[in-house]
Amino acid sequence: MNKIVEVLPDKAILIARALEVVVSKMQAAIEENGRCTIALAGGGTPKPLYEAIATEALEWDKIHVFWGDERYVEADHPDSNQRMARLAWLNQVPIPEANIHPIPTNGENPAADADKHEAQLQEFFKITQGEFPNFDVILLGIGDDAHTASLFPHTEALQVKQRLIAVGNKDGQPRITFTATLINHAKCVMFLVAGAGKQQALAQIFAPEADSLTYPARLIQPQGELWWLLDHAAGKNLN
Ligand code: 6PG
Repeated sequence: MNKIVEVLPDKAILIARALEVVVSKMQAAIEENGRCTIALAGGGTPKPLYEAIATEALEWDKIHVFWGDERYVEADHPDSNQRMARLAWLNQVPIPEANIHPIPTNGENPAADADKHEAQLQEFFKITQGEFPNFDVILLGIGDDAHTASLFPHTEALQVKQRLIAVGNKDGQPRITFTATLINHAKCVMFLVAGAGKQQALAQIFAPEADSLTYPARLIQPQGELWWLLDHAAGKNLN
């Protein structure tokens, strides 16, 4: 693992730096493999990054977009991560609909939809049970509780090792999430973290010793590059 940690002066500069790195990774993947596979984070932090990516002149037909997790709501629900990314980015560019791979959340059965998305990923990446695809880029955030994707502290999803997709649980609300194993097979994982509210979580995530079940972002140790882009408010106390 190659870990890069950058503390940027403010959120706007963090987003500009993230844009620079993510666009270069996407273009390199297209150059190397003829396509790019990127999985998006939800929440609020990455929205301005998605708005910025939409202004770039990229080979949209060669870019495939996935989500690292999804709330278990309809695609047009205000809490939907898919909805946020479509409004901020995907609706603004000529990306083929076939290149957008949302997590299914309309079957009223989270476990069945998790299985369905697992099968969709296996089909797309042409892999079989027990094999893991290597996403070119996976974007992540962290919560104040040091969760990432929908891998929440002391939940069953943290124990799911041999699958691509698991059912997450946030205060009893189901989520669908990439497993830590799938995330760790990525070529590049990038955390975007902004705001003083994330300081305590970062301190535990970066501590030499701490419990990964309590601070799940510690489980993310990818075989490829691990980027932490922090604004000063979040990262100022990290040594
Ligand atoms: C989600 C995200 C989640 C998010 C963190 C940070 O579905 O909410 O995937 O893991 O990245 O909760 O959210 P903010 O960026 O809003 O702080």
